[in-house]
Amino acid sequence: MDLSWCRFVGALVVAILLCLQGFCYSEQAPNYSFVHDSTSAPNISYYDYIIIGGGTAGCPLAATLSQNYSVLLIERGGSPYGNPNITNLANFGASLSDNTPTSPAQPFISEDGVYNSRARVLGGGSCLNAGFYTRASVDYVNNAGWDGNLVNQSYQWVEKLVAFEPPMRQWQSAVRDGLLEVGVTPYNGFTYDHIIGTKVGGTIFDRDGHRHTAADLLEYANPKGLTVLLNATVHQILFRTKGKAKPTAHGVIFSDSLGIKHRAQLNKGSKNEIILSAGALGSPQLLMLSGVGPAEHLRSHNITVLVDQPMVGQGMSDNPMNAIYIPSPLDVEVSLIQVVGITPVGSYIEAASGANFGSPAGMQSFGMFEPQTGELFTVRSDQSNPGMAKFFEAMKPADRVFRGGFILEKVLGPSSTGHLELRNKNPHDNPSVRFNYFQDPEDLRRCAEGIRIISRVIASRAFSKFTYPYLSFPALVNMTLSFPVNMLPKHNNVTSSHEQFCRDSVMTIWHYHGGNQVGKVVDNDYKVLGVDALRVIDGSTFQYSPGTNPQATVMMLGSRYMGVKIANDRVKSDGSS
Ligand SMILES: Cc1cc2nc3c(=O)[nH]c(=O)nc-3n(C[C@H](O)[C@H](O)[C@H](O)COP(=O)(O)OP(=O)(O)OC[C@H]3O[C@@H](n4cnc5c(N)ncnc54)[C@H](O)[C@@H]3O)c2cc1C
Ligand SMILES: *[C@@H]1O[C@H](CO)[C@@H](O)[C@H](O)[C@H]1NC(C)=O
Ligand SMILES: *[C@@H]1O[C@H](CO)[C@@H](O)[C@H](O)[C@H]1NC(C)=O
Ligand SMILES: *[C@@H]1O[C@H](CO)[C@@H](O)[C@H](O)[C@H]1NC(C)=O
Ligand SMILES: *[C@@H]1O[C@H](CO)[C@@H](O)[C@H](O)[C@H]1NC(C)=O
Ligand SMILES: *[C@@H]1O[C@H](CO)[C@@H](O)[C@H](O)[C@H]1NC(C)=O
Ligand SMILES: *[C@@H]1O[C@H](CO)[C@@H](O)[C@H](O)[C@H]1NC(C)=O
Ligand SMILES: *[C@@H]1O[C@H](CO)[C@@H](O)[C@H](O)[C@H]1NC(C)=O
Ligand SMILES: *[C@@H]1O[C@H](CO)[C@@H](O)[C@H](O)[C@H]1NC(C)=O
Ligand SMILES: *[C@@H]1O[C@H](CO)[C@@H](O)[C@H](O)[C@H]1NC(C)=O
Repeated sequence: MDLSWCRFVGALVVAILLCLQGFCYSEQAPNYSFVHDSTSAPNISYYDYIIIGGGTAGCPLAATLSQNYSVLLIERGGSPYGNPNITNLANFGASLSDNTPTSPAQPFISEDGVYNSRARVLGGGSCLNAGFYTRASVDYVNNAGWDGNLVNQSYQWVEKLVAFEPPMRQWQSAVRDGLLEVGVTPYNGFTYDHIIGTKVGGTIFDRDGHRHTAADLLEYANPKGLTVLLNATVHQILFRTKGKAKPTAHGVIFSDSLGIKHRAQLNKGSKNEIILSAGALGSPQLLMLSGVGPAEHLRSHNITVLVDQPMVGQGMSDNPMNAIYIPSPLDVEVSLIQVVGITPVGSYIEAASGANFGSPAGMQSFGMFEPQTGELFTVRSDQSNPGMAKFFEAMKPADRVFRGGFILEKVLGPSSTGHLELRNKNPHDNPSVRFNYFQDPEDLRRCAEGIRIISRVIASRAFSKFTYPYLSFPALVNMTLSFPVNMLPKHNNVTSSHEQFCRDSVMTIWHYHGGNQVGKVVDNDYKVLGVDALRVIDGSTFQYSPGTNPQATVMMLGSRYMGVKIANDRVKSDGSS
């Protein structure tokens, strides 16, 4: 595959790289006495809990368990603090288009031909994401069999530190009013709750546009109980089989930033555990590298099979995202996701905008349009980029200023599933993954319905001041299709078919999940079936993406919820034995 495109996996990017209002904010690193570089780790060390992956679930889990136990949190990436690409809202896209080995974002391209990205930094996906914060629905919580009270307490524990009410400016307000005008009702105001209608959701960006991440939840940690290692990549989970009813996890091997291997072991005691929180790609990958997975596939990579577990890596899903690009006659604010329309047809409508796509730096961040930084203006005049040429052709000369935003649509669920496989035995490399977007016709129907609603929002009275009257919806569709949003062939007759548009312009909203689903790879307590002393707690356990966007629920589950449950169950069984 052409890896030069990996720079643009940020595909959907809105902001400018120029610092807002001319100043750059760089957050003071918190005084985390427990965070160390992996090179400082001893050759071998011992803990009650070893958590693999300091991401969106791993950080809050480590903070909670460290209250009463000794915890090691192992993260392959570096620190998010002091990196303006992570901290500033207006830099969304900078990390996603940074393809260097130390970037907090590791690009991958799914076998579907869609550009994608995964986190490689303390705080995980919450350091890269568009910030939208919204809880799972009450039905989702009930179907998962979770304890609703503990779920609510756990969400609040997260929200106290990292969730904010967004400022509603002109573009987001127009989308909200447009959604209401076309009947995505009722208006539910500002709320974290997932309920049908139009709402303003939470965000992990504060009022100054500064990002707060899952790494901030480490402020809750007990510094005496926690060790966090950065730039530490786990290669394998170690199991003991002798004298055990089931293979029992007892340690991990990880390499530091110099490539030197270390070992971390569980303290003696039958309640101690290893917890895998390496994310939807990392967790199934590491189970397989450790000998837990489909036997035949493991053997083809010369991996000794510990447990033949055919469901590891199965049931991978990614919610397809499709967007319509809308150039605006008026200036618009820089915004990521703030408003959402939760429709009854299984489609979620969201929007983002950029103040000034006309600057070269803005275009770089809007990576979808033009590969080379700053080449927009020359490309524009020589029209060598078909996407840009078409874009400007469609506009009146006087209007050829590049500003605007997009309205996007995410399919609920989804119902389509794919699978993940190892490419090799190198834990630094991406596994191969296929999501089979729109394989289930229900997903395609939901997408087409969503596009129909977007077309009505664009035509609404409330939104009219942000559109050029002569750019019809089919013209916007044509423009959107001419940008290299994925590697798929385009069918130029699509204006008659929303379904074909959905297929041709499919992108990711980065909510991929599955691979270690509850009931298939882990039980209801997230314990890996067929082995002892090992759980998986992260987005790989979901069958469907929770809420409109998942991060709130990933943090909730990792934090109070499973952390408190694990600790309580342990105290209970200690008391009774
Ligand atoms: C660009 C983008 C935009 C998004 N927008 C939103 C949004 O607006 N709202 C929302 O709710 N959600 C959003 N999401 C989704 C959300 O951020 C993710 O679903 C969530 O962060 C996943 O959490 P996780 O704990 O499962 O995995 P992660 O947060 O990815 O954590 C996994 C961690 O494990 C580490 N790791 C992996 N393998 C190893 C190994 N072998 N050794 C050591 N460490 C390892 C990784 O470096 C990573 O830090 C977005 C995601 C992205 C990428
Ligand atoms: C940082 O934390 C350590 C231990 O928790 C403490 O001794 C030290 O004084 C703190 N430093 C600052 C600058 O707050
Ligand atoms: C750890 O990784 C970060 C970036 O991911 C890098 O800046 C830092 O230098 C690394 N530390 C070491 C000791 O290599
Ligand atoms: C920020 O992103 C830019 C563009 O991708 C990259 O060149 C730069 O190295 C990044 N800076 C940091 C501190 O990661
Ligand atoms: C949890 O909070 C939601 C509102 O966010 C509420 O609807 C629900 O009833 C609460 N659940 C419990 C068990 O209290
Ligand atoms: C630990 O160090 C010893 C030598 O001091 C070495 O033989 C051994 O391989 C090391 N173990 C690991 C896991 O690195
Ligand atoms: C597996 O081992 C065999 C024999 O050592 C070797 O020929 C083969 O290339 C190996 N396969 C992989 C995928 O490493
Ligand atoms: C969209 O593109 C097709 C094929 O290039 C063209 O036939 C059609 O006229 C265009 N429609 C609009 C509204 O621009
Ligand atoms: C539209 O494109 C599809 C896919 O290439 C093709 O099968 C179909 O015949 C085309 N329809 C028209 C009317 O050109
Ligand atoms: C830690 O232990 C104390 C005292 O037993 C208990 O009150 C508290 O709930 C425990 N906290 C966690 C997170 O387990």
